[in-house]
Amino acid sequence: MRKIILRGIFYDLFIEILLNRTKERIARFIAQNNLFPALDICCGTGKQCQLLEKRRQGTIGLDLDLKMLKYASSKYPQITFVCADAAHIPFRNESFKAVIISYSLHDKNPEMRIKIIQEAKRLLTPEGKIVFLDFENPWNRLSGLGSAFTWLIERTAGGEHYKNNRQFLKNGGLQGIIRSHGLHTVERHNIPLGNSRIVIAKSEDIF
Ligand SMILES: C[S@@+](CC[C@H](N)C(=O)[O-])C[C@H]1O[C@@H](n2cnc3c(N)ncnc32)[C@H](O)[C@@H]1O
Repeated sequence: MRKIILRGIFYDLFIEILLNRTKERIARFIAQNNLFPALDICCGTGKQCQLLEKRRQGTIGLDLDLKMLKYASSKYPQITFVCADAAHIPFRNESFKAVIISYSLHDKNPEMRIKIIQEAKRLLTPEGKIVFLDFENPWNRLSGLGSAFTWLIERTAGGEHYKNNRQFLKNGGLQGIIRSHGLHTVERHNIPLGNSRIVIAKSEDIF
């Protein structure tokens, strides 16, 4: 337990601080468009859930890592966290108006990515939106600089995570995901220094 709390604290101190503005932006978009209830798939330390919950009630965080969820829940006891596999999410079809998938595709293998997106589509109401935040291939000099920084972080994570990220970028990053899953981009916001993008997408599929 102590080790996982340290991991949570480390993530909060060094990663969440860098991501805070971007996650605020996502929360603002969801609140302004009244996209509640919302589900944050692979929610990690729960920060995105908290930024949403402070605007309006109705966010659930889901992650497979029970210890990380206990850490999230200790910080945000008012939020519901569910421990489950993102490939088999225990909610009915069309349960959410927003599904967030933030930095949780690049680290997964291709089969897992497909399952997560299929689940996200299944869970969305017809007017619902998927909010992606993840890495892209660099598109200008600033994002090229960002890519060097994010490469270093990903290299430190190592192993399967690093290998999956290389494959994710080789397949076109977030844009590759949008293309290959028949999703329709509604809005996108560049984060050059993070070599990342927020992509808000709609699914054309009906379940
Ligand atoms: C890189 S972190 C991203 C955390 C958070 N979304 C963020 O933006 O900071 C990836 C998360 O995916 C979770 N995860 C990995 N495999 C999973 C699975 N099969 N189902 C649900 N969560 C999973 C991990 O526990 C971890 O919290």
